[in-house]
Amino acid sequence: MAARDAFYVTSPIYYVNDSPHIGHAYTTLACDVMARFMRLDGRRVRFLTGTDEHGQKVEKAAREAGKEPQAFTDEVSQRFRRMVEVMGTSPDDFIRTTEARHKRAVSALWQKLVDAGDIYLGTYAGWYSVRDEAFYAESELVDGKAPTGAPVEWVEEPSYFFRLSAWQERLLAYYERDPQTVMPASRRNEVVSFVKGGLTDLSVSRTSFRWGIPVPGDERHVIYVWLDALTNYLSALGYPDTESELFTTFWPADLHMVGKDIVRFHSVYWPAFLMSAGLAPPRRVFAHGWWTNEGQKISKSLGNVIDPFELVARYGLDQVRYFLMREVPFGQDGDFSRAAMLKRANHDLANDYGNLVQRVLSLVQRSCEGRVPDPGTLAAEDDELLAAAHGLVPSVRGAMDEVAPHKALEAIFDVVGRANRYVDAQAPWALAKRDPVRLRAVLWTACETIRHVATLTLPFMPTASAKILDQLAVSEPARRFASLGPDGAHLVPGTPLPRPEGVFPRLQEAAA
Ligand code: MSP
Repeated sequence: MAARDAFYVTSPIYYVNDSPHIGHAYTTLACDVMARFMRLDGRRVRFLTGTDEHGQKVEKAAREAGKEPQAFTDEVSQRFRRMVEVMGTSPDDFIRTTEARHKRAVSALWQKLVDAGDIYLGTYAGWYSVRDEAFYAESELVDGKAPTGAPVEWVEEPSYFFRLSAWQERLLAYYERDPQTVMPASRRNEVVSFVKGGLTDLSVSRTSFRWGIPVPGDERHVIYVWLDALTNYLSALGYPDTESELFTTFWPADLHMVGKDIVRFHSVYWPAFLMSAGLAPPRRVFAHGWWTNEGQKISKSLGNVIDPFELVARYGLDQVRYFLMREVPFGQDGDFSRAAMLKRANHDLANDYGNLVQRVLSLVQRSCEGRVPDPGTLAAEDDELLAAAHGLVPSVRGAMDEVAPHKALEAIFDVVGRANRYVDAQAPWALAKRDPVRLRAVLWTACETIRHVATLTLPFMPTASAKILDQLAVSEPARRFASLGPDGAHLVPGTPLPRPEGVFPRLQEAAA
Protein backbone atom coordinates (compact mmCIF):
# COMPACT_ATOMS: atom_id res chain seq x y z
CA MET A 1 0.00 0.00 0.00
CA ALA A 2 2.79 2.42 0.84
CA ALA A 3 3.76 2.83 -2.80
CA ARG A 4 0.64 4.87 -3.52
CA ASP A 5 -0.05 8.37 -2.29
CA ALA A 6 -3.86 8.22 -2.49
CA PHE A 7 -5.83 6.09 -0.06
CA TYR A 8 -9.50 5.26 -0.64
CA VAL A 9 -11.19 3.48 2.25
CA THR A 10 -14.86 2.56 2.38
CA SER A 11 -17.21 1.21 5.02
CA PRO A 12 -20.17 -0.94 4.01
CA ILE A 13 -23.29 1.14 3.50
CA TYR A 14 -25.81 0.30 6.18
CA TYR A 15 -29.33 -0.97 5.69
CA VAL A 16 -31.79 1.58 6.94
CA ASN A 17 -34.23 -1.00 8.25
CA ASP A 18 -33.03 -0.44 11.79
CA SER A 19 -31.09 1.79 14.20
CA PRO A 20 -27.30 1.73 14.29
CA HIS A 21 -25.72 -0.84 16.63
CA ILE A 22 -22.23 -1.71 17.75
CA GLY A 23 -21.51 -3.66 14.55
CA HIS A 24 -22.10 -0.60 12.39
CA ALA A 25 -20.13 1.61 14.75
CA TYR A 26 -17.24 -0.86 14.74
CA THR A 27 -16.83 -1.03 10.95
CA THR A 28 -17.09 2.74 10.59
CA LEU A 29 -14.63 3.27 13.42
CA ALA A 30 -12.07 0.90 11.92
CA CYS A 31 -12.28 2.83 8.63
CA ASP A 32 -11.92 6.08 10.50
CA VAL A 33 -8.80 4.94 12.30
CA MET A 34 -7.27 3.89 8.98
CA ALA A 35 -8.30 7.16 7.33
CA ARG A 36 -6.95 9.35 10.12
CA PHE A 37 -3.74 7.37 10.25
CA MET A 38 -3.11 7.73 6.52
CA ARG A 39 -3.89 11.47 6.61
CA LEU A 40 -1.37 11.99 9.42
CA ASP A 41 1.09 9.96 7.40
CA GLY A 42 0.77 12.46 4.56
CA ARG A 43 -1.45 10.42 2.24
CA ARG A 44 -4.34 11.84 0.21
CA VAL A 45 -7.31 10.15 1.78
CA ARG A 46 -10.91 9.63 0.79
CA PHE A 47 -13.12 7.90 3.34
CA LEU A 48 -16.64 6.97 2.29
CA THR A 49 -19.60 5.72 4.29
CA GLY A 50 -23.36 5.86 3.79
CA THR A 51 -26.66 4.04 3.75
CA ASP A 52 -28.12 1.19 1.67
CA GLU A 53 -31.73 2.15 1.13
CA HIS A 54 -33.31 -0.05 -1.54
CA GLY A 55 -34.55 -3.61 -1.57
CA GLN A 56 -37.21 -5.77 -0.05
CA LYS A 57 -35.89 -5.63 3.48
CA VAL A 58 -36.04 -1.84 3.67
CA GLU A 59 -39.38 -1.76 1.85
CA LYS A 60 -40.79 -4.20 4.41
CA ALA A 61 -39.43 -2.18 7.36
CA ALA A 62 -41.02 0.99 5.91
CA ARG A 63 -44.33 -0.77 5.54
CA GLU A 64 -44.15 -2.04 9.10
CA ALA A 65 -43.45 1.51 10.26
CA GLY A 66 -46.49 2.69 8.28
CA LYS A 67 -44.36 5.00 6.13
CA GLU A 68 -43.56 5.52 2.48
CA PRO A 69 -40.13 4.03 1.75
CA GLN A 70 -38.59 7.38 0.80
CA ALA A 71 -39.83 9.15 3.94
CA PHE A 72 -38.77 6.18 6.05
CA THR A 73 -35.26 6.01 4.57
CA ASP A 74 -34.83 9.79 4.94
CA GLU A 75 -35.51 9.40 8.61
CA VAL A 76 -33.45 6.31 9.37
CA SER A 77 -30.50 7.47 7.27
CA GLN A 78 -30.23 10.47 9.62
CA ARG A 79 -29.60 8.12 12.54
CA PHE A 80 -26.58 6.78 10.71
CA ARG A 81 -25.32 10.28 10.05
CA ARG A 82 -25.66 10.88 13.76
CA MET A 83 -23.68 7.73 14.51
CA VAL A 84 -20.88 8.96 12.26
CA GLU A 85 -20.71 12.10 14.41
CA VAL A 86 -21.15 10.51 17.79
CA MET A 87 -18.36 8.01 17.07
CA GLY A 88 -16.09 10.92 16.17
CA THR A 89 -15.52 9.57 12.67
CA SER A 90 -14.36 11.72 9.77
CA PRO A 91 -15.79 10.55 6.43
CA ASP A 92 -15.17 12.75 3.40
CA ASP A 93 -18.51 11.75 1.90
CA PHE A 94 -21.75 10.09 2.98
CA ILE A 95 -23.67 8.41 0.19
CA ARG A 96 -27.29 7.32 0.08
CA THR A 97 -28.41 4.89 -2.59
CA THR A 98 -31.59 6.90 -3.16
CA GLU A 99 -29.55 9.88 -4.42
CA ALA A 100 -29.62 10.80 -8.11
CA ARG A 101 -25.81 10.54 -8.46
CA HIS A 102 -26.01 6.91 -7.31
CA LYS A 103 -28.95 5.91 -9.53
CA ARG A 104 -27.12 7.32 -12.51
CA ALA A 105 -24.02 5.31 -11.69
CA VAL A 106 -25.95 2.07 -11.22
CA SER A 107 -27.76 2.45 -14.56
CA ALA A 108 -24.46 3.17 -16.28
CA LEU A 109 -22.75 0.16 -14.71
CA TRP A 110 -25.68 -2.06 -15.69
CA GLN A 111 -25.32 -0.88 -19.28
CA LYS A 112 -21.62 -1.79 -19.24
CA LEU A 113 -22.43 -5.30 -18.08
CA VAL A 114 -25.02 -5.59 -20.87
CA ASP A 115 -22.49 -4.28 -23.42
CA ALA A 116 -19.98 -6.85 -22.20
CA GLY A 117 -22.51 -9.62 -22.95
CA ASP A 118 -22.66 -10.64 -19.30
CA ILE A 119 -26.39 -10.03 -18.72
CA TYR A 120 -29.20 -12.25 -20.04
CA LEU A 121 -32.89 -12.68 -19.30
CA GLY A 122 -34.14 -15.89 -17.70
CA THR A 123 -36.26 -17.09 -14.79
CA TYR A 124 -35.08 -17.45 -11.22
CA ALA A 125 -36.50 -20.33 -9.28
CA GLY A 126 -34.93 -20.82 -5.90
CA TRP A 127 -34.55 -19.64 -2.34
CA TYR A 128 -34.23 -16.04 -1.23
CA SER A 129 -33.63 -14.55 2.19
CA VAL A 130 -35.00 -11.05 2.63
CA ARG A 131 -33.04 -10.61 5.86
CA ASP A 132 -29.73 -11.36 4.10
CA GLU A 133 -30.92 -10.00 0.72
CA ALA A 134 -29.27 -13.11 -0.72
CA PHE A 135 -30.10 -16.06 -2.99
CA TYR A 136 -29.30 -19.53 -1.67
CA ALA A 137 -28.93 -22.85 -3.42
CA GLU A 138 -30.95 -25.76 -2.03
CA SER A 139 -27.68 -27.43 -1.03
CA GLU A 140 -26.71 -24.47 1.16
CA LEU A 141 -29.80 -24.61 3.38
CA VAL A 142 -29.49 -25.89 6.93
CA ASP A 143 -32.73 -27.19 8.46
CA GLY A 144 -34.73 -25.24 5.94
CA LYS A 145 -32.98 -21.98 6.73
CA ALA A 146 -30.14 -19.93 5.26
CA PRO A 147 -26.68 -20.84 6.60
CA THR A 148 -26.89 -17.57 8.55
CA GLY A 149 -30.03 -18.79 10.29
CA ALA A 150 -32.22 -16.36 8.36
CA PRO A 151 -35.58 -17.55 7.05
CA VAL A 152 -35.82 -18.17 3.30
CA GLU A 153 -38.71 -18.07 0.88
CA TRP A 154 -39.24 -19.73 -2.48
CA VAL A 155 -39.03 -17.27 -5.35
CA GLU A 156 -39.98 -17.94 -8.95
CA GLU A 157 -39.96 -14.96 -11.29
CA PRO A 158 -38.47 -13.58 -14.50
CA SER A 159 -35.00 -12.30 -13.77
CA TYR A 160 -31.92 -10.97 -15.46
CA PHE A 161 -28.77 -12.94 -14.73
CA PHE A 162 -25.13 -11.95 -14.55
CA ARG A 163 -22.84 -14.51 -16.18
CA LEU A 164 -20.81 -15.10 -13.02
CA SER A 165 -19.93 -18.64 -14.13
CA ALA A 166 -17.70 -17.14 -16.84
CA TRP A 167 -15.56 -15.33 -14.26
CA GLN A 168 -14.14 -18.19 -12.24
CA GLU A 169 -10.63 -18.23 -13.75
CA ARG A 170 -10.29 -14.48 -13.81
CA LEU A 171 -11.37 -14.23 -10.20
CA LEU A 172 -8.86 -16.88 -9.18
CA ALA A 173 -6.15 -14.98 -11.05
CA TYR A 174 -7.16 -11.83 -9.17
CA TYR A 175 -6.75 -13.52 -5.76
CA GLU A 176 -3.54 -15.10 -6.96
CA ARG A 177 -2.00 -11.84 -8.10
CA ASP A 178 -1.84 -10.43 -4.59
CA PRO A 179 -2.37 -12.38 -1.36
CA GLN A 180 -3.77 -9.22 0.21
CA THR A 181 -6.80 -8.90 -2.06
CA VAL A 182 -8.84 -10.71 0.58
CA MET A 183 -7.80 -10.55 4.22
CA PRO A 184 -7.36 -12.07 6.74
CA ALA A 185 -5.99 -15.32 5.30
CA SER A 186 -8.85 -17.41 6.73
CA ARG A 187 -11.37 -15.36 4.71
CA ARG A 188 -9.18 -15.51 1.65
CA ASN A 189 -9.11 -19.31 1.83
CA GLU A 190 -12.87 -19.39 2.23
CA VAL A 191 -13.37 -17.19 -0.84
CA VAL A 192 -10.86 -19.09 -2.97
CA SER A 193 -12.43 -22.44 -2.17
CA PHE A 194 -15.91 -21.07 -2.83
CA VAL A 195 -14.82 -19.89 -6.28
CA LYS A 196 -12.90 -23.10 -7.00
CA GLY A 197 -16.07 -25.01 -6.18
CA GLY A 198 -17.63 -23.53 -9.33
CA LEU A 199 -19.84 -20.48 -9.80
CA THR A 200 -23.42 -20.32 -10.98
CA ASP A 201 -24.89 -17.31 -12.73
CA LEU A 202 -26.29 -14.70 -10.38
CA SER A 203 -29.82 -13.36 -10.46
CA VAL A 204 -29.45 -9.58 -10.62
CA SER A 205 -33.01 -8.31 -10.93
CA ARG A 206 -36.35 -8.80 -9.19
CA THR A 207 -39.91 -8.31 -10.37
CA SER A 208 -41.97 -8.98 -7.23
CA PHE A 209 -41.51 -5.58 -5.57
CA ARG A 210 -40.79 -2.02 -6.69
CA TRP A 211 -38.41 -0.36 -4.19
CA GLY A 212 -35.22 -0.19 -6.17
CA ILE A 213 -33.54 1.16 -9.29
CA PRO A 214 -35.33 0.05 -12.48
CA VAL A 215 -33.45 -2.01 -15.04
CA PRO A 216 -32.65 0.35 -17.92
CA GLY A 217 -35.00 -0.49 -20.78
CA ASP A 218 -37.13 -2.95 -18.81
CA GLU A 219 -38.85 -1.16 -15.99
CA ARG A 220 -40.74 -4.20 -14.74
CA HIS A 221 -37.49 -5.24 -13.10
CA VAL A 222 -35.62 -3.56 -10.27
CA ILE A 223 -31.87 -4.12 -10.01
CA TYR A 224 -30.78 -6.59 -7.29
CA VAL A 225 -30.04 -4.62 -4.15
CA TRP A 226 -26.47 -5.90 -3.84
CA LEU A 227 -25.54 -4.85 -7.38
CA ASP A 228 -27.14 -1.51 -6.55
CA ALA A 229 -25.40 -1.19 -3.15
CA LEU A 230 -21.88 -2.22 -4.19
CA THR A 231 -21.92 0.43 -6.90
CA ASN A 232 -21.94 3.13 -4.19
CA TYR A 233 -18.16 2.86 -4.05
CA LEU A 234 -18.07 4.11 -7.64
CA SER A 235 -20.98 6.58 -7.49
CA ALA A 236 -19.26 8.54 -4.75
CA LEU A 237 -16.30 9.09 -7.10
CA GLY A 238 -18.60 10.44 -9.81
CA TYR A 239 -18.88 7.30 -11.97
CA PRO A 240 -19.61 7.01 -14.92
CA ASP A 241 -17.21 9.92 -15.35
CA THR A 242 -14.04 7.87 -15.14
CA GLU A 243 -11.84 10.69 -16.42
CA SER A 244 -12.37 13.02 -13.45
CA GLU A 245 -9.56 13.80 -11.05
CA LEU A 246 -11.55 12.25 -8.22
CA PHE A 247 -12.03 8.99 -10.05
CA THR A 248 -8.54 8.64 -11.46
CA THR A 249 -6.99 9.50 -8.10
CA PHE A 250 -8.99 7.11 -5.96
CA TRP A 251 -10.10 4.15 -8.05
CA PRO A 252 -9.48 1.27 -7.45
CA ALA A 253 -10.32 1.38 -3.75
CA ASP A 254 -7.40 0.64 -1.46
CA LEU A 255 -9.55 -0.90 1.21
CA HIS A 256 -13.14 -2.05 1.41
CA MET A 257 -13.68 -2.69 5.10
CA VAL A 258 -16.48 -5.20 5.68
CA GLY A 259 -17.83 -7.63 8.26
CA LYS A 260 -17.13 -11.33 7.73
CA ASP A 261 -20.74 -11.97 6.69
CA ILE A 262 -20.49 -9.88 3.53
CA VAL A 263 -17.14 -10.99 2.12
CA ARG A 264 -18.64 -13.01 -0.70
CA PHE A 265 -20.46 -9.99 -2.08
CA HIS A 266 -17.31 -7.89 -1.95
CA SER A 267 -14.71 -10.41 -3.03
CA VAL A 268 -16.60 -12.53 -5.56
CA TYR A 269 -19.53 -10.63 -7.07
CA TRP A 270 -18.05 -7.13 -6.91
CA PRO A 271 -14.69 -7.80 -8.62
CA ALA A 272 -16.53 -9.81 -11.30
CA PHE A 273 -18.94 -6.91 -11.97
CA LEU A 274 -16.06 -4.47 -12.08
CA MET A 275 -13.88 -6.51 -14.39
CA SER A 276 -16.87 -7.11 -16.67
CA ALA A 277 -17.40 -3.34 -16.82
CA GLY A 278 -13.74 -2.82 -17.68
CA LEU A 279 -12.83 -1.39 -14.28
CA ALA A 280 -10.07 -2.44 -11.90
CA PRO A 281 -11.17 -4.55 -8.91
CA PRO A 282 -10.45 -3.33 -5.36
CA ARG A 283 -6.91 -3.65 -4.06
CA ARG A 284 -8.06 -5.10 -0.80
CA VAL A 285 -11.13 -6.32 1.06
CA PHE A 286 -10.62 -6.79 4.78
CA ALA A 287 -13.23 -8.67 6.80
CA HIS A 288 -13.47 -8.10 10.53
CA GLY A 289 -15.13 -10.41 13.03
CA TRP A 290 -18.32 -10.09 15.01
CA TRP A 291 -18.97 -8.91 18.54
CA THR A 292 -20.92 -10.83 21.12
CA ASN A 293 -22.35 -9.22 24.24
CA GLU A 294 -21.19 -10.75 27.54
CA GLY A 295 -20.64 -14.03 25.69
CA GLN A 296 -24.00 -14.05 23.92
CA LYS A 297 -24.79 -13.64 20.27
CA ILE A 298 -26.26 -10.19 19.72
CA SER A 299 -29.82 -10.22 18.46
CA LYS A 300 -32.91 -8.09 18.60
CA SER A 301 -34.99 -10.99 19.84
CA LEU A 302 -32.62 -11.49 22.80
CA GLY A 303 -32.87 -7.76 23.50
CA ASN A 304 -29.10 -7.45 23.96
CA VAL A 305 -28.25 -5.12 21.10
CA ILE A 306 -25.48 -2.69 22.07
CA ASP A 307 -26.34 0.91 21.32
CA PRO A 308 -23.24 2.91 20.34
CA PHE A 309 -24.83 6.20 21.48
CA GLU A 310 -25.35 4.81 24.96
CA LEU A 311 -21.87 3.31 25.05
CA VAL A 312 -20.23 6.64 24.26
CA ALA A 313 -22.42 8.50 26.75
CA ARG A 314 -21.51 6.05 29.48
CA TYR A 315 -17.80 5.40 28.95
CA GLY A 316 -16.62 8.34 26.86
CA LEU A 317 -15.76 8.50 23.17
CA ASP A 318 -12.01 7.98 23.33
CA GLN A 319 -12.46 5.14 25.80
CA VAL A 320 -14.94 3.33 23.54
CA ARG A 321 -12.81 3.87 20.45
CA TYR A 322 -9.74 2.58 22.27
CA PHE A 323 -11.55 -0.44 23.66
CA LEU A 324 -13.01 -1.50 20.30
CA MET A 325 -9.67 -1.21 18.52
CA ARG A 326 -7.56 -2.73 21.28
CA GLU A 327 -9.54 -5.51 22.90
CA VAL A 328 -9.81 -7.86 19.94
CA PRO A 329 -7.21 -8.77 17.33
CA PHE A 330 -8.74 -7.14 14.27
CA GLY A 331 -10.24 -9.81 12.01
CA GLN A 332 -11.26 -12.11 14.87
CA ASP A 333 -14.55 -12.31 16.73
CA GLY A 334 -14.66 -10.62 20.11
CA ASP A 335 -16.73 -10.23 23.20
CA PHE A 336 -17.97 -6.99 24.65
CA SER A 337 -18.18 -7.02 28.42
CA ARG A 338 -18.65 -4.12 30.77
CA ALA A 339 -15.88 -5.45 33.01
CA ALA A 340 -13.40 -5.55 30.10
CA MET A 341 -14.46 -2.09 28.96
CA LEU A 342 -13.88 -0.62 32.44
CA LYS A 343 -10.59 -2.42 32.79
CA ARG A 344 -9.24 -0.98 29.53
CA ALA A 345 -10.45 2.52 30.41
CA ASN A 346 -9.03 2.47 33.93
CA HIS A 347 -5.95 0.34 33.57
CA ASP A 348 -4.57 1.26 30.15
CA LEU A 349 -5.88 4.80 29.86
CA ALA A 350 -6.26 6.31 33.34
CA ASN A 351 -3.45 4.45 35.12
CA ASP A 352 -0.87 4.01 32.40
CA TYR A 353 -1.26 6.63 29.69
CA GLY A 354 -3.08 9.30 31.72
CA ASN A 355 -0.84 8.99 34.71
CA LEU A 356 2.33 9.23 32.62
CA VAL A 357 1.18 12.47 31.07
CA GLN A 358 -0.16 13.90 34.29
CA ARG A 359 2.87 13.30 36.45
CA VAL A 360 5.39 14.44 33.85
CA LEU A 361 3.52 17.61 32.94
CA SER A 362 2.79 18.53 36.56
CA LEU A 363 6.49 18.26 37.35
CA VAL A 364 7.37 20.44 34.38
CA GLN A 365 4.84 22.96 35.67
CA ARG A 366 6.21 22.87 39.18
CA SER A 367 9.94 22.49 38.63
CA CYS A 368 10.55 24.10 35.24
CA GLU A 369 8.36 27.18 35.54
CA GLY A 370 5.83 25.67 33.17
CA ARG A 371 8.21 25.76 30.20
CA VAL A 372 9.70 23.03 28.00
CA PRO A 373 12.96 22.24 29.82
CA ASP A 374 16.36 22.45 28.20
CA PRO A 375 17.65 18.86 27.92
CA GLY A 376 21.38 19.69 27.93
CA THR A 377 23.29 16.44 27.47
CA LEU A 378 21.30 13.21 27.37
CA ALA A 379 22.28 10.05 29.23
CA ALA A 380 22.16 6.52 27.85
CA GLU A 381 18.78 5.79 29.51
CA ASP A 382 17.29 8.88 27.87
CA ASP A 383 18.58 7.88 24.45
CA GLU A 384 17.20 4.42 24.94
CA LEU A 385 13.68 5.66 25.66
CA LEU A 386 13.83 8.14 22.79
CA ALA A 387 14.97 5.40 20.44
CA ALA A 388 11.91 3.35 21.41
CA ALA A 389 9.64 6.36 20.77
CA HIS A 390 11.36 7.07 17.44
CA GLY A 391 10.96 3.46 16.40
CA LEU A 392 7.19 3.71 16.73
CA VAL A 393 6.44 5.33 13.37
CA PRO A 394 7.79 2.47 11.24
CA SER A 395 6.38 -0.24 13.49
CA VAL A 396 2.94 1.35 13.76
CA ARG A 397 2.91 2.02 10.02
CA GLY A 398 3.71 -1.65 9.40
CA ALA A 399 0.81 -2.71 11.63
CA MET A 400 -1.62 -0.35 9.93
CA ASP A 401 -0.50 -1.50 6.48
CA GLU A 402 -1.63 -4.98 7.44
CA VAL A 403 -4.87 -3.57 8.94
CA ALA A 404 -3.88 -4.60 12.45
CA PRO A 405 -4.89 -1.61 14.59
CA HIS A 406 -4.60 -3.74 17.76
CA LYS A 407 -0.92 -4.34 16.99
CA ALA A 408 -0.39 -0.64 16.43
CA LEU A 409 -1.87 0.08 19.86
CA GLU A 410 0.18 -2.67 21.46
CA ALA A 411 3.36 -1.11 20.12
CA ILE A 412 2.35 2.37 21.29
CA PHE A 413 1.37 1.17 24.75
CA ASP A 414 4.58 -0.74 25.05
CA VAL A 415 6.34 2.63 24.88
CA VAL A 416 3.87 4.08 27.42
CA GLY A 417 4.88 1.24 29.77
CA ARG A 418 8.58 1.84 29.17
CA ALA A 419 8.15 5.56 29.75
CA ASN A 420 6.42 4.92 33.08
CA ARG A 421 9.22 2.60 34.16
CA TYR A 422 11.76 5.19 33.06
CA VAL A 423 10.07 7.89 35.12
CA ASP A 424 9.92 5.54 38.13
CA ALA A 425 13.61 4.72 37.77
CA GLN A 426 14.78 8.29 37.21
CA ALA A 427 12.53 9.61 40.00
CA PRO A 428 12.61 13.20 38.73
CA TRP A 429 10.67 14.48 41.79
CA ALA A 430 13.76 13.63 43.84
CA LEU A 431 16.08 15.39 41.38
CA ALA A 432 14.48 18.82 41.71
CA LYS A 433 16.78 19.95 44.47
CA ARG A 434 19.66 17.55 44.07
CA ASP A 435 20.39 17.76 40.34
CA PRO A 436 18.30 20.27 38.37
CA VAL A 437 20.38 19.73 35.22
CA ARG A 438 19.59 16.03 35.21
CA LEU A 439 15.97 16.79 36.09
CA ARG A 440 15.59 18.82 32.91
CA ALA A 441 17.08 16.09 30.73
CA VAL A 442 14.69 13.53 32.21
CA LEU A 443 11.60 15.69 31.84
CA TRP A 444 12.50 16.73 28.31
CA THR A 445 12.97 13.07 27.35
CA ALA A 446 9.64 12.15 28.93
CA CYS A 447 7.86 15.04 27.17
CA GLU A 448 9.35 14.09 23.81
CA THR A 449 8.19 10.51 24.32
CA ILE A 450 4.70 11.72 25.22
CA ARG A 451 4.66 13.86 22.08
CA HIS A 452 5.40 10.77 19.97
CA VAL A 453 2.80 8.69 21.75
CA ALA A 454 0.09 11.36 21.57
CA THR A 455 0.68 12.03 17.86
CA LEU A 456 0.39 8.31 17.18
CA THR A 457 -2.76 7.89 19.26
CA LEU A 458 -4.49 10.72 17.34
CA PRO A 459 -6.18 8.30 14.90
CA PHE A 460 -7.51 6.17 17.75
CA MET A 461 -8.36 8.76 20.40
CA PRO A 462 -8.57 12.08 18.58
CA THR A 463 -9.93 14.16 21.46
CA ALA A 464 -7.68 13.08 24.31
CA SER A 465 -4.59 12.96 22.09
CA ALA A 466 -5.23 16.50 20.87
CA LYS A 467 -5.60 17.69 24.47
CA ILE A 468 -2.25 16.14 25.36
CA LEU A 469 -0.62 17.80 22.35
CA ASP A 470 -2.21 21.11 23.43
CA GLN A 471 -0.59 20.68 26.81
CA LEU A 472 2.77 20.24 25.08
CA ALA A 473 2.06 23.32 22.92
CA VAL A 474 2.54 21.29 19.72
CA SER A 475 1.29 23.42 16.84
CA GLU A 476 -1.42 22.15 14.50
CA PRO A 477 0.89 21.68 11.47
CA ALA A 478 3.36 19.74 13.61
CA ARG A 479 0.74 17.12 14.45
CA ARG A 480 1.73 14.64 11.79
CA PHE A 481 4.07 11.71 11.52
CA ALA A 482 6.67 13.61 9.53
CA SER A 483 7.34 15.56 12.74
CA LEU A 484 8.29 12.38 14.59
CA GLY A 485 11.41 10.24 14.67
CA PRO A 486 15.08 11.16 14.77
CA ASP A 487 14.77 13.44 11.73
CA GLY A 488 11.53 15.06 12.81
CA ALA A 489 10.84 18.12 14.92
CA HIS A 490 11.35 18.30 18.67
CA LEU A 491 10.00 20.30 21.57
CA VAL A 492 11.70 23.66 21.80
CA PRO A 493 13.17 24.49 25.23
CA GLY A 494 11.64 27.56 26.80
CA THR A 495 8.21 27.17 25.13
CA PRO A 496 5.55 28.03 27.73
CA LEU A 497 3.10 25.22 28.45
CA PRO A 498 -0.48 25.52 29.65
CA ARG A 499 -1.47 24.19 33.05
CA PRO A 500 -1.88 20.39 32.78
CA GLU A 501 -5.30 18.82 33.16
CA GLY A 502 -6.13 15.12 33.38
CA VAL A 503 -7.44 13.66 30.13
CA PHE A 504 -8.47 10.14 31.12
CA PRO A 505 -10.77 10.15 34.14
CA ARG A 506 -11.06 6.98 36.21
CA LEU A 507 -14.43 5.43 35.56
CA GLN A 508 -16.43 4.13 38.52
CA GLU A 509 -17.63 0.56 38.68
CA ALA A 510 -21.12 2.02 38.97
CA ALA A 511 -20.82 3.11 35.36
CA ALA A 512 -21.28 -0.55 34.49
N1 MSP B 1 -26.14 -3.12 3.40
C1 MSP B 1 -25.22 -4.18 3.54
C2 MSP B 1 -23.84 -3.76 3.11
C3 MSP B 1 -23.74 -3.25 1.72
S1 MSP B 1 -22.13 -2.75 1.33
C4 MSP B 1 -22.16 -2.44 -0.29
C5 MSP B 1 -25.18 -4.63 5.01
N2 MSP B 1 -25.62 -3.76 5.90
S2 MSP B 1 -25.82 -4.05 7.46
O1 MSP B 1 -26.35 -2.83 7.98
O2 MSP B 1 -26.59 -5.21 7.66
O3 MSP B 1 -24.45 -4.41 8.09
C6 MSP B 1 -23.35 -3.71 8.05
C7 MSP B 1 -22.14 -4.21 8.78
O4 MSP B 1 -22.37 -4.43 10.18
C8 MSP B 1 -21.58 -5.49 8.22
O5 MSP B 1 -20.23 -5.27 7.89
C9 MSP B 1 -21.68 -6.46 9.38
O6 MSP B 1 -20.63 -7.37 9.39
C10 MSP B 1 -21.64 -5.56 10.56
N3 MSP B 1 -22.17 -6.19 11.76
C11 MSP B 1 -23.46 -6.53 12.03
N4 MSP B 1 -23.51 -7.11 13.26
C12 MSP B 1 -22.27 -7.17 13.80
C13 MSP B 1 -21.72 -7.58 15.04
N5 MSP B 1 -22.43 -8.13 16.00
N6 MSP B 1 -20.38 -7.39 15.22
C14 MSP B 1 -19.59 -6.76 14.28
N7 MSP B 1 -20.08 -6.37 13.12
C15 MSP B 1 -21.40 -6.66 12.79
O7 MSP B 1 -24.74 -5.72 5.26
